[in-house]
Amino acid sequence: MSTAKEIFKKYQAQTFPYPSCLEISSASGCYIYDENDEKYLDFIAGVSAVPLGHNNSKINNAVKKQLDKYSHVMVYGEFIQKPQYYLAKLLSDCLPNKLNTTYFTNSGTEAIEGAIKLAKRITKRSEIISCKNSYHGSTHGTLSIMGNEEYKSNYRPLIPACNQIKFNDIKSLKYITNKTAAVVLEPIQGASGFITPKNNFLHEVRKKCDETKTLLIFDEIQTGFGRLGKIFAVDVFSVVPDILCIAKGMGGGMPIGAFISSWSFMNYLTFQPKLGHITTFGGHPISCTASLETLKQIKNTSILSTIKSKEKVFRKNLKHSKIKEVRGMGLMLAIELGCSKICKKLVDKALNKKLILFYFLFSDTAVRISPPLIISEEEIVEGCNIITSILDEI
Ligand SMILES: Cc1ncc(COP(=O)(O)O)c(C=O)c1O
Repeated sequence: MSTAKEIFKKYQAQTFPYPSCLEISSASGCYIYDENDEKYLDFIAGVSAVPLGHNNSKINNAVKKQLDKYSHVMVYGEFIQKPQYYLAKLLSDCLPNKLNTTYFTNSGTEAIEGAIKLAKRITKRSEIISCKNSYHGSTHGTLSIMGNEEYKSNYRPLIPACNQIKFNDIKSLKYITNKTAAVVLEPIQGASGFITPKNNFLHEVRKKCDETKTLLIFDEIQTGFGRLGKIFAVDVFSVVPDILCIAKGMGGGMPIGAFISSWSFMNYLTFQPKLGHITTFGGHPISCTASLETLKQIKNTSILSTIKSKEKVFRKNLKHSKIKEVRGMGLMLAIELGCSKICKKLVDKALNKKLILFYFLFSDTAVRISPPLIISEEEIVEGCNIITSILDEI
C-alpha cells in the first residue's frame, strides 16, 4: 500500500523541491503533532497565520456555533450576515477614522488585487509603484508588482506600468509622480527577510503620495493582527494609508483577507459598473466568525502587551558566533546567518529536534521566526536553545 508521503508526492502538485513532508495528526497551542504523536514546537505559525495558536478553543467554539447556524448562503455583499458586519465594525473601531469600510476577500492576494483595482478606479491613473524584493501574492496582478524578476519572467506580459523603487531609499521617491495611481508597501518587508523601515521611509512615502495625490496602500498581511505588538503596523509607525490590506493572522487559522478604505472610496465599487469587485466566498461566514473571535481576543486580552518582552527573550537567547544579526520586530524575526547552506542545515536539523523553522522566499541566508503570539517565554528559550545547539554542531 502507498504511504501518505507517496500519495502526497504523486497526487498533490509539488511546488517546493524539498518539502519537509511532516505528516500532521493534530495541533494545539504552539505545538504540532505528527502521525506518531511526536510534538513539535512551532516557531512559524503557518507563516504568521495562527496568531492565537492552533486549535484555539474560543475560535473553535465560535466556528462550531456558526456552522450549526449557516455557512455559505450568498455571494459577497447581498445578504446581511452577522459575522461579516460585526467584523467590519470591529475592524473600523480598531483603525484610524478614514479606514472604516471593509471589503472581505478569500486571501491576501485577492485583497491586494482589489486594492489595486480600487486605486486605479479612484485616481483614473494606471501606474502602480511597489518595492524591490516585495511580495504581495502570486497571481498576475500581484506578480506584476512583485519585486523579484526571477518569479515574474516566465509570465510576461504582466500588467503594464508597474514599477519598483528601493525600500528605505528616500531618493527613489522622485519616481512617485502625478501619474502614479498607488504605491503598495509592506511596512516591514516579509519575503526579503523582515526588513524594517529606516530613514523615516514610511512617513516620506506618505508625504510624497499626498503631494502627488497618489494613494498609499499598505500590505499588512504579515504585520497585522498583533505580530508587532500593536494590532496593526499603522499604529506602530503612525502612518495611515489610504487602503489597508490584511489577511493571514486575520483568520486565526481560517482563510480570509480584506481591503479596507474610506466609505467614499469604497463606494466607487458600487457604480460604473456596479459590482466593481466580485467574489463568491469572500467574507465566508465561518472565516469571518474565526476572524471576529481572533480580533476580539487580540484586542481584549493582554496578549499585545507581551510581544515586546517576548522579542527581548528571543534576542537574548539567539546569541551565537554564526548569527550575524537578528532582524525584524516583535514576533517577526529573521536569523541572518549569511550562508544558505547553514540555513538549510539549521531548518532540517531543527525539524529532527522537533522545532519548526522556515525559510524566506527572497533571502536564502536567513531563517524565519514567526511563532504564535501566545508562545510562552519558556517555549521561546527552549526553541532558541535548540537553534544555538544546532549552530554549535554545524
Ligand atoms: C506581505 C504579503 N502579502 C501578500 C501575501 C499573499 O497572501 P495570501 O497567500 O493569503 O494570498 C502574502 C503571503 O505570504 C504576504 O506575506
